[in-house]
Formats: sequence, C-alpha cells, structure tokens
Amino acid sequence: MADVRKQLSENVKGEFFVDSTCINCDVCRQLAPETFGEADDFSYVYAQPQTDEQWRRALRALLACPTGSIGTLGTNNSKQVINDFPIQIENEVYYCGFNSPKSYGGNSYFIKHADGNWLIDSPKFLPHLVRKFEEVGGLKYIFLTHRDDVAEAHRYATKFNAKRIIHRFELSSQPASEIVIDGDKPVQLFPEFLTIPTSGHTKGHCVLLYKNYFLFTGDHLWWSRKRNSLSASEEVCWYSWPDQIKSMEKLLQFRFERVLPGHGQRMQLSSHEMHQHLTHLVARMKSSHDVDNDKSWSDD
Ligand SMILES: [Fe+2]
Repeated sequence: MADVRKQLSENVKGEFFVDSTCINCDVCRQLAPETFGEADDFSYVYAQPQTDEQWRRALRALLACPTGSIGTLGTNNSKQVINDFPIQIENEVYYCGFNSPKSYGGNSYFIKHADGNWLIDSPKFLPHLVRKFEEVGGLKYIFLTHRDDVAEAHRYATKFNAKRIIHRFELSSQPASEIVIDGDKPVQLFPEFLTIPTSGHTKGHCVLLYKNYFLFTGDHLWWSRKRNSLSASEEVCWYSWPDQIKSMEKLLQFRFERVLPGHGQRMQLSSHEMHQHLTHLVARMKSSHDVDNDKSWSDD
C-alpha cells in the first residue's frame, strides 16, 4: 500500500502518486506509459491520466506494481480493474500481472492450452489469480526461465499439482522441480513447445518458443523503448556475457514474432523484422563487450 507521506516530489499534482519504495522495475511504464515515466532510479507520475482508458491503465499499473508503490489520493478504485488480469496479449496468451518483488517485478505469462495450461515464471501467489486459473482448468506446467524469476512457483505447483520445468543449472532455486532440462541444445518439450537453453544472464537460463511465434525470453532478451530495438545488457548479465552473445546468435535460427520478456518491454513484429533486429543485436554485442547504453531493461 503506497504511503502518501512518502510520495516522490517529482510526481505531478493529482490523483495518482508514486512513493519512495519504488524499485524502478519498469512495470508501470510498460502498462501505462502515458502516466508513468522514469527519473533517476525510480518511476514517477509525469502526467495524470485524463481519459477513461488512461485511468484504467494507471489502475492496472497500481495493481501490478510489485512493491505497492503506486497510490491514489482519493478512493482506491483498483478493484474496478482487478478482473482485467490476466490481461490478454494475443489469442490464448496472457500477461498475469501482480508482479512479484521476489523476482524484482518480473513479468509472468499464462497460456490457455487444450492439453493443459502453462504458467511462464511466477507472479505473486494471490487468490484472484488462483481463481482465474481455476476457472479455465488450472495449471499443468510451470516453465521457469531462470532462478531469478521463480518467485512463488512452488505454491502454484502445489496448489495445481503442476509440473515445474527448469534447467539443471537453475535447479537449486526450485529443487523439487519435476522436469529438468539438461545441456545446451533445444529440447522439444511437447508439440508447439520448444525450450532453448540460453546460458549467459544465468548459467542455465532458458527461453521458451511457443508455436514458432511467441518467444518467452526471461532476462535474456527484451525490447528497448529507448533504442527502439531488441536489447540485452552486460550490466544485468550475472553469469557470462560471452555465453550470452553465443546464446543470442543461436536464436537466429528460429522464427518468432512476439518477444515476451521477464523484464523490459514486450514487442510484436513480423518474423522478418524480428530477425533483422536480432541480427543487429548480435552484431552489436560482438562488436563491443558493453552494449553501450543498454544499462538495464528499464533504461528507456
Ligand atoms: Fe534475471
């Protein structure tokens, strides 16, 4: 719950405010970019919402904020939009919302699938999401991109008797995981679901390619609003930047049209455009050990 006594002086006057507990995870700027901006190391309200749709998006950001750092001066109307979550991205793929502080506000996703539903990384464990998942048949698989974003996956796994999928090198973060990926070669988990080990950000980081269209990228790859291009960052690479470059090059053999990251901006482009951006990113990564301004996923 945001504290008005801690509200940042950078906020413009009006109903919405951000307080000093903000961790600059970028979630509010992804959900309501016309309201929330970045200053130094935090988000703030740079323009109060005007239209009904802007209000709706600002309230969604309030609910999704992992640290509860967004507040309103008047009545909290966020209950009006709680049923927006999970938010549909395209067809059977959704963004869960309710980002967890345990994953530094990482995004998690949901796939409604005829052979059993999937969760990709974990949001907060909340009755609202549990109910929403129950209404559409629960969860069968929980794909974990890497150790940072497991959050409360164990609670969802227990609640739904779901199988967690994670690479062996990340297993210590979720030791009871039921399906363990080994090695550095792509693994066809099920028809339409291919996991591609992408060592770099962490040693056992994996991405998930669904239908050769949706690529769930964890913290390996994201869209940068500042660069208007695909991006990665040595600054938030915890294991091996040379390995991350090799893993990025490996992705060039695959086709996809949507990048759905843990941190950073989501993006949809034609597979041809996506491939061009990826080619440029690989070249940029190879030409410099530091991808110049790509300081972090929130750097826009
Ligand atoms: Fe991470």
